[in-house]
Amino acid sequence: MRQTLKVQTEESCEYLIDITDNKFSKLNQEIYEYTHTQKRLVVISKKVHKLYSEELDFKEEELLILPDGEQEKNIKNYLKIIERASQMGLTRKDVIIAVGGGVIGDIAGFAASTYMRGIDFIQVPTTLLSAVDSSVGGKTAIDLQYGKNLLGTFYQPKKVFININFFKTLDNRQNMSGLGEVLKYAFIENSCGYKVPQYLFEFLTLGCEKIMAREPLTLIRIIEYCLNLKIAVVNQDEKEGGLRKVLNFGHTLAHALETITKYKKYTHGEAVVYGIFFIFDWAYKQGQISYSYYRLSLDLLEKYGFKPLKKKYSPQELVEIMKHDKKASPRKITFIVPSDKKEVHEIKLSPKQVRSMLAQI
Ligand code: GLY
Repeated sequence: MRQTLKVQTEESCEYLIDITDNKFSKLNQEIYEYTHTQKRLVVISKKVHKLYSEELDFKEEELLILPDGEQEKNIKNYLKIIERASQMGLTRKDVIIAVGGGVIGDIAGFAASTYMRGIDFIQVPTTLLSAVDSSVGGKTAIDLQYGKNLLGTFYQPKKVFININFFKTLDNRQNMSGLGEVLKYAFIENSCGYKVPQYLFEFLTLGCEKIMAREPLTLIRIIEYCLNLKIAVVNQDEKEGGLRKVLNFGHTLAHALETITKYKKYTHGEAVVYGIFFIFDWAYKQGQISYSYYRLSLDLLEKYGFKPLKKKYSPQELVEIMKHDKKASPRKITFIVPSDKKEVHEIKLSPKQVRSMLAQI
């Protein structure tokens, strides 16, 4: 089974995304066909290397193995990639391939976009989260002590190879993290500007068992639905001038939670789901959404086993972190808020308003 999707941005950047359940031998062959005239630096996650080094056909000397975890998305590891690319003598004609989750994709993409002012980059996402979100759309970054993704570029990959066989070995927590981002798309579908209804909300409600069981064809459909929405957004607004902000639904609180806990306590998807619960509560209390939509949405999140955040964090500290968010202006913090069924809009609040909003958690 193979689905191929195409990204085509307004700035005329074009690339294909393959979603398959093919054997790894086929993946190797396709990567080879795509890159055999180039020198390749393969930045691979330590976990993925341990599990799949036999199956994946990369030469030892092409590999740079990096540890997993958001705390590894730092300047030290970025420089390791750049130094390795220089040692290997990579030129502008060559390629960096990222094999791993969002951390590997983001950091390798940032290195590819800055090394010699930009060389080819290929994404091979190995987690559900990176397949449905970070491997597509060209956001690359590393984190700084002041916040997540503060140093980065928009730099589209030349190709994305999604092979769902990698997901078989995801632990439950990582799988749930990916489902957190998948659920996000259900709540923003009608704001993405995709012409064909995906009925993702309904599909996720009815297909919960198959999705939780990681049934291959269902996973391929889910990834396709989510990426259709993401591509529609990216095609219209690659650099996040406006529309692309809808993809940040749940993310304002999520990034602050990840930062306040030094990226050690929550997976990205968990933090996003806490952000979604929080903003649904707030929107309902503000009278911005009906009780029936509020309840249906919470039911969907709970069906997948998600719960609202219990732990309390200082509103003052969270607000200080939010002020450093890329989407924030000096005096305003941006939230993406549900407005109607499967629709969201952007609001900007003062730090004082956000403190009182957070005090209600
Ligand atoms: N993850 C949000 C975006 O790609 O814009």
